[in-house]
Amino acid sequence: MKKIGILTSGGDSPGMNTAIRAVTKMAMNYNCEMYGIKRGYKGMLNDEIFKLNPLDVSGIADRGGTILLSARLPEFKQPEVRAKAAANLKRHGIEGLVVIGGDGSYRGADLLFREHGIKVVGIPGTIDNDIAGTDYTIGYDTTLNIILDAVSRIRDTANSHERTYLLEVMGRDCGDLALYSAMAGGANGVLIPEVNRSIDELAEDIKERRSQRKLSDIIIVAEGVGHVFDIAKELKEKINTEIRVTVLGHIQRGGSPTAFDRVLATRMGARAFELLMEGESGIMVGMENNKMVTHAISYAWENKTNISLDDYNLTHLLSI
Ligand code: F6P
Repeated sequence: MKKIGILTSGGDSPGMNTAIRAVTKMAMNYNCEMYGIKRGYKGMLNDEIFKLNPLDVSGIADRGGTILLSARLPEFKQPEVRAKAAANLKRHGIEGLVVIGGDGSYRGADLLFREHGIKVVGIPGTIDNDIAGTDYTIGYDTTLNIILDAVSRIRDTANSHERTYLLEVMGRDCGDLALYSAMAGGANGVLIPEVNRSIDELAEDIKERRSQRKLSDIIIVAEGVGHVFDIAKELKEKINTEIRVTVLGHIQRGGSPTAFDRVLATRMGARAFELLMEGESGIMVGMENNKMVTHAISYAWENKTNISLDDYNLTHLLSI
């Protein structure tokens, strides 16, 4: 294989650039040409495909976001759209493709392989940590640390004003960011979509803490649980303390990737390239039990990630 394309798709995540660098520099070592595709599948469709040079990926290992830009293209579900995009790849002589993104991006890649013979390897890049087949996705650790920084800052003001804070974090339908920021941040409660916990129970816990003269609380709320302002309103009817809501939002996706994410992205990027060179296709790379693994790319949407109930129970036990 002499020409490989690479794109980032879906929500950007810190470490995507590190992965782009790893794939591209591996290719240079093997005299293989790398082509960047801008704006994910949108750029593939609009022929925004350009040759990646050493300078393009130099000094980007520590840069957040993605130099290739990212977008979502729902129209990629249409066969004629995929056919046009595949024709663009073929016109450039691109035979292999590395897709960095979530399981939605993988589905498009799988169809490019099945319908048009483009060899594809997926790299899990999302802050949500919601992709089956890998213990961690690129960007998750950085976001976790951003949330922890916010928790510490909020704790100061929560203590000073003796308030209850609800902190909404991202994650879509996955509670990992919320659960592990609650555990590591020493929060006083956590609401995640995977575990049904009533507002009544949360209110009782807060009242119990008050009876022990603990006068402030930080409750982490995963966005997948529902509208945090509605939760705050319902909670306010049951407790007698002042409540504030903080929605962390897109701050969680920015900034320089942590060492963990950079190492993960480098290992995954290098492995994805090697797999294409070995003639593999229709697979995703992952890291399980600190080892690089591969799965059929469909594994990502045919399986669900599981929350650890032990970790949830432990976090709850320590939230008093
Ligand atoms: O999938 C990453 C993510 O940041 C989710 O956590 C969040 O729900 C969503 O993307 C936000 O999407 P957008 O950037 O399009 O608002």
